[in-house]
This record gives sequence, C-alpha cells and structure tokens, in this order.
Amino acid sequence: MRIGQGSAVLSTAGGDVGLVDSLGRAINYLRVSVTDRCDFRCTYCMSEAMTFLPKRDLLSLEEIDRLCSAFVARGTRKLRITGGEPLVRNGVMKLFRSLSRHLAGGALDELTLTTNGALLSRYAAELADCGVKRVNVSLDTIDPQKFHKITRRGNLANVLDGISAAQAAGLSVKINAVALTCFEENEFRALVEWAHGRGIDISFIEVMPLGELEEQRVDQYLPLDRVRVQLAARWTLDDINFSTGGPARYVRVRETGGRIGFITPMTHNFCDSCNRVRVTCRGLLYMCLGQNDSVDLRAPLRASPDDALLDAAIDLAIARKPKGHDFIIERAVAPVVGRHMSATGG
Ligand code: 5AD
Ligand code: SF4
Repeated sequence: MRIGQGSAVLSTAGGDVGLVDSLGRAINYLRVSVTDRCDFRCTYCMSEAMTFLPKRDLLSLEEIDRLCSAFVARGTRKLRITGGEPLVRNGVMKLFRSLSRHLAGGALDELTLTTNGALLSRYAAELADCGVKRVNVSLDTIDPQKFHKITRRGNLANVLDGISAAQAAGLSVKINAVALTCFEENEFRALVEWAHGRGIDISFIEVMPLGELEEQRVDQYLPLDRVRVQLAARWTLDDINFSTGGPARYVRVRETGGRIGFITPMTHNFCDSCNRVRVTCRGLLYMCLGQNDSVDLRAPLRASPDDALLDAAIDLAIARKPKGHDFIIERAVAPVVGRHMSATGG
C-alpha cells in the first residue's frame, strides 16, 4: 500500500499516531512467526539437515499475543501468522482465538496465515470461526512426484484436501508458488489451470537468497518475466490495477477469469511501498526480510508487565527500518542474509 492510501493507517483508536518510519512509510502490517519448525523441507527454503531452536527459546503463545496486541495498539491493521509452518505449533488455535478479539473490536482489519496446507483439513473450520477470512497456501506444483521432491516429505493429496476444507469452511484461498528453474513450462500452466478452475488466485514469487542450502541459488532462480512469457503463450494476460496492499502485480487471464500475481523481489524491487515488519518466534523484530538488522522484543516484553519498554523498543526499531533489501544472486556469492525464510516467516 502506498503511504497515505487506504484508511486509518496513520491513526489508532486512541487518536495516537501509528508507526511511521524515517522514510514516511506507514507500518501497519505485522507478520509473526510462531515456530521455525515445519513438517516439510522445501529445497529452496531449508536445508535437509536443519537445526531448529530449542523450544525453551520460543516466545510463549501468551507473549506472542501480548506482542501482537502492542502492535495493534500502535496502528497495526493486519496480522499474518507464519512459521516455519504455523499449524505445527502446539496450541496455535488458542492464539488465533484470542487474537480474534481485535477483529471483533474493530482494531484489526485482518487476521490471516501462511501455511503449507498439510494440516488445513484439521483446522480450517476453527480458523474460519476465529474470524480468519483468507489463507495463503504455499504450493509450487500440482504434480505429486514433483511436489514430494520439492518439499522432500510432503504429500500433495493432504494439501489438496486441506485447500478443499478451507474453501468448504468459507475461507478464500490464495496460492503462493515459488518459481524455480526445475519446473517445466507446462507445470506453471497446469498449476494456474488447477487454481483458476477452483476460483483460486495464484501468485508466483522469485526465489530470494535467504540462508545456505545444498543447492546454489543461482541454479534455482528463475526471473518471473520468463514465467510470464510461458503463460502468455497459452493465455491472454491483461494487466489490471488490482492490489491486496502487497507487492504483487496482477494480471487477469482472459480465458479463465482468474488472477495471477507476480512478486518480483529480485527483478523489480518494491521496497518504496513496504508497510510491514516481521517478528520471529524468539521475539526478534526484523524491519526488512532482506537485511540483518533486528531488535530484540523478548527482553522488554519480559522485563515488565506493562508495555512501556516494549513500545520504546518498537519505536527504536521502526526508526531503523532500512530503505530496502540488498539481495543478489550470483554463483559463489554467499547469501548476505544467513537466516532461512523459515526463521523470519513469509
Ligand atoms: N525465496 C522465496 N520464497 C520463499 N519461501 C520460502 N523460502 C523462500 C525463498 N528463499 C516461500 C514459501 C512460502 C512463503 C512463506 O515463502 O514457499 O510461500
Ligand atoms: Fe515449510 Fe514453507 Fe519452508 Fe516449505 S517453504 S519448508 S512448507 S516453511
């Protein structure tokens, strides 16, 4: 979202001014990772042998609630729960249930999550009951063998069941697909066809150099203009002015009526309109996905039961939000950002 666009971004219920960084960007969107663990090991996200944080290092669900609520009090209008895989965190539904009070009270516009979908059949109805309206499911291919290969342990049927359960519960589903060189042309088309056939929009994402992997990033990375060319060979893509407030640029496929988003952190940087920050499951606030600077929120959270110290730490962090990321993907260049996506949350 551009600064000044949209509603209530600069003021909170109490009339205080919300969070605005040194470049004038209103920060009204918080992504919170509730675990760094995941039941998959996607080849572009994690290495096969990941070490996860000891459970005692994690913020408790009560602490996460308090932290989110402090942001809501400072003008955050949208909360996304992420991971790792957020649905593998024990008791995570308690967190959704308690955060839903901010929706009911009107302080929050949206409570949502990013998930790999494997546990959605179990939780979809309860999520809907907590006021969740939309869910982003990460799904890169609908070829079962390829899916298993990419996720290293996922079962496509579970994910597809999860998506059906989400739709049956009235949740609007969006697919996020990371574009990789290992996909065939017709796999992108098959995925779009599958999604649009179910009334689901899909966004493709360029892979970002986050963390060390077995493979070289340069061998995985596929710029999205190439994907677009492949899709355009099959369908008519009309540029549209649609936005969900995020970085995707959308087209409508004339023949299917569905939308395709392109999220291009590598080829077209969209940092100027960034409205978000991220908190890890140990309470580190990252002001940019593509930078290493962070501010610890766990210490101020634990130091005192009132939020004065926490608020001061949040102010300090927002003032330090950088202009943008410095991602580069080149052979033999180690990633500037050593942490994996699963550490910061998508
Ligand atoms: N680059 C781009 N996207 C990634 N994801 C995980 N790792 C990366 C990466 N290195 C995606 C997942 C999911 C979202 C949370 O981030 O596929 O859609
Ligand atoms: Fe898990 Fe998502 Fe990372 Fe895959 S991309 S390993 S599903 S966190």
